Amino acid sequence: MSINKEQVRTALAHVLHPQENTDLVTLGMIQDIIVQDKYISFTIEFPGKDDKLAHDLKQKCTDTIHKFVDKDAVVDITTGVNLSRKRKMEESETQAEQSISGQKQQPKQEPILPGVKNIIAVASGKGGVGKSTVAANLAVALARSGAKTALLDTDIYGPSIPTLFGVSERPNITTDKKLVPIEKHGVHLVSMGFLVDTDQAMIWRGPMVTSAVKQFMQEVQWGELDYMVLDLPPGTGDIQLTIVQTVPLTGAVIVSTPQIVALDDVRKGVAMFKKVNVPVLGVIENMSYFVPEDMPEKKYYIFGKHGARNLASRLDVPFLGEIPLREPIMKSSDRGVPIVVSEPASEAAESFIRISNRVEQALIVRNREQDQTPKVDIKFRPS
Ligand SMILES: Nc1ncnc2c1ncn2[C@@H]1O[C@H](COP(=O)(O)OP(=O)(O)OP(=O)(O)O)[C@@H](O)[C@H]1O
Ligand SMILES: [Mg+2]
Repeated sequence: MSINKEQVRTALAHVLHPQENTDLVTLGMIQDIIVQDKYISFTIEFPGKDDKLAHDLKQKCTDTIHKFVDKDAVVDITTGVNLSRKRKMEESETQAEQSISGQKQQPKQEPILPGVKNIIAVASGKGGVGKSTVAANLAVALARSGAKTALLDTDIYGPSIPTLFGVSERPNITTDKKLVPIEKHGVHLVSMGFLVDTDQAMIWRGPMVTSAVKQFMQEVQWGELDYMVLDLPPGTGDIQLTIVQTVPLTGAVIVSTPQIVALDDVRKGVAMFKKVNVPVLGVIENMSYFVPEDMPEKKYYIFGKHGARNLASRLDVPFLGEIPLREPIMKSSDRGVPIVVSEPASEAAESFIRISNRVEQALIVRNREQDQTPKVDIKFRPS
């Protein structure tokens, strides 16, 4: 029988924190459990640096997994420091006391991003289909329509937002240690690329990525926002799945190019969001047709015609529009100015603006038809 996350959690509930006299699961120190066959990975989060304790607890957790779950399991534990952990520990102590005194143990529900009305993920099954270009132009178009908009780059392995917005400075930190997003072209930006150099980020593993995304949710001064756009890393694997479970998403858009090889991955993307109950707002087809700069009246469907549009209809998800393959889109991105800002009247910019209007419409419908409360709650998911 294959191992599941619940077995891992149950086993880890046997490991006591020596000073707190409470188990690590109750203390909320176990995060980002990932199970693949016999490979089990998770993070133990500490309120401060304590190498000896980290070493001891890692050993205890490994022994416990071998004893209660599977003696052959490969256990990969990351330890991390999360400054907000101390506060959470104090909360769990209070809860433990309440439970001893006979009161019902209710985890205290802390709203995540209470000032953010809509969180939209921009995903793709395949890499290089133009997800970051779409996320950047979508965010700018939403901001230009008057909405307070942020863009969070969750692509920790290959952050592109600093380049797409031409940002090289580091963000400020408030006195209460919150990161202040950098505002560019009317959009509030946060990217791991602002904080570490990309070579360093390459060695990050899954649990560390999701811890970083959580910290972006909780330790950034986001303020009041109409829209937060998330640029996801390419693919539909465990990392993407964990990120979409970490963030209380309102909906997702999937970017694809028209050719068959890319379309197979759109199916996986739609399936991934369905699995975690996140509504798919629609599919965007990028690089739909090529328009030569010297013959702007021509359209060449070099990757096939209407592939993503037809697939969206077959999968019964909305089609949000086409974006042409045009040199100025690429050049403008490379200069750090999304095309919606550099050439707002161009056909290419208009296609992004049209799509952003459709996304807004889709969100209005979604919020009317479905519970406003985010379906996915980072506090109570089996972590
Ligand atoms: N419609 C377009 N016309 C011309 N160039 C485009 C278009 N869309 C994207 N590009 C270019 O294609 C390249 C890949 O785009 P982008 O980085 O947005 O893709 P991505 O899906 O985010 O990639 P990754 O999977 O690596 O995150 C970039 O150089 C970008 O400027
Ligand atoms: Mg990208």
